[in-house]
Amino acid sequence: MTTIIAGKGSSKYQIHIKGKKFSKAIFNKDIGKNNKVLIITDSGVPKKHIRKIKDIISCKKINVLTLNQGEKSKSFASFQKIMNMLFAMNFDRSDSLIALGGGVVGDITGFCAATYLRGINYIQVPTTLLAQVDSSVGGKTAINVPQGKNLIGSFYNPKFVLISTDFLKTLPQEQYESGLGEVIKYAFIGNKKLKKIIEDNSKKITERNEKILKTIIEESIKTKSKIVTKDEKENGIRAILNFGHTFGHAIEAHHGYKKITHGAAITMGMVIAAKVSFFEGHIKDQQLENIISVIKSLGLKADHKKYKYSDLRKYMKIDKKVSNGQLNLILIDKNFNAFKTSNFNNKNIIKALN
Ligand SMILES: NC(=O)c1ccc[n+]([C@@H]2O[C@H](COP(=O)([O-])OP(=O)(O)OC[C@H]3O[C@@H](n4cnc5c(N)ncnc54)[C@H](O)[C@@H]3O)[C@@H](O)[C@H]2O)c1
Ligand SMILES: [Zn+2]
Repeated sequence: MTTIIAGKGSSKYQIHIKGKKFSKAIFNKDIGKNNKVLIITDSGVPKKHIRKIKDIISCKKINVLTLNQGEKSKSFASFQKIMNMLFAMNFDRSDSLIALGGGVVGDITGFCAATYLRGINYIQVPTTLLAQVDSSVGGKTAINVPQGKNLIGSFYNPKFVLISTDFLKTLPQEQYESGLGEVIKYAFIGNKKLKKIIEDNSKKITERNEKILKTIIEESIKTKSKIVTKDEKENGIRAILNFGHTFGHAIEAHHGYKKITHGAAITMGMVIAAKVSFFEGHIKDQQLENIISVIKSLGLKADHKKYKYSDLRKYMKIDKKVSNGQLNLILIDKNFNAFKTSNFNNKNIIKALN
């Protein structure tokens, strides 16, 4: 087992990365025999994963609440449903929620934990690659409202995060590739060791080899936790985690957040951001080609030709990286370091997209 520490001061937490087996001790440290647990999961998470977690928790009262799979469950309605269940179970501050699923389950469970009785413990057990390398770390919790995605939420760290590569065996290919998009992002925004590992092991990664999965998850989390620990509330450096996201979010919005996974959209977004970096003179053409070839080596799509500037423009303006009316972009330099800038020529965005 590998353990990485994230967070600061009293909100410090451990992220455990494991293979198939995990012991009771992991949960029993934070959950006493007389405590209650509510596992929140969704209908797409295979039952055997739920059983595995239930079987190693020793407390007397464990309930499971299964939301419908999909983004729609990150809603007020689910929030209300979970709150009702917590009241019905007489949950108090010594009891715990467990988020067992992807980012949808993680985000809503975290938000419920942050707000019920002004904050109770929650444990993240992410079961998608995207949740393992991204959403379970960093303490962002949220629900969606008709006005937009993730507009109601809080920063609230879990008690700990338990990651098992074993969960990934059942993950649909499209969801696996979505997570790989975020893994590659960490390689492009500064984790050079991860970049080399991906370049040397693309076949093993596409075959979901357990050993290599553990390594790339570990490296991804090291980068994410270093950045989010420095900037817990997203006032500065955390912005670089949005490399590819201005364009990626615009692609997702263009599809009405359907038909395309987040990872697939941001992967194309990273190609567009790399092209802007190239046209702005920050990187050379070999570097741009290298980025595209790393993406393709994992079987991900780099070709963004079907998205024109005229399609994406309106969505880029409402992206959260706009502050004071100015669009900020995350670009990369020749050393594969990402930086935030509002100093670029809009023509280079048009050029990258046409
Ligand atoms: N909090 C953050 O920092 C953060 C960061 C990135 C994304 N997010 C959020 O995460 C969400 C996306 O997360 P996601 O990509 O994990 O999607 P998701 O949670 O919708 O999961 C994708 C699908 O995979 C299924 N699934 C989960 N685990 C499985 C397994 N082991 N085997 C088979 N199927 C499984 C789920 O049922 C679901 O249908 C979005 O709501 C996004 O806003 C949050
Ligand atoms: Zn993302």
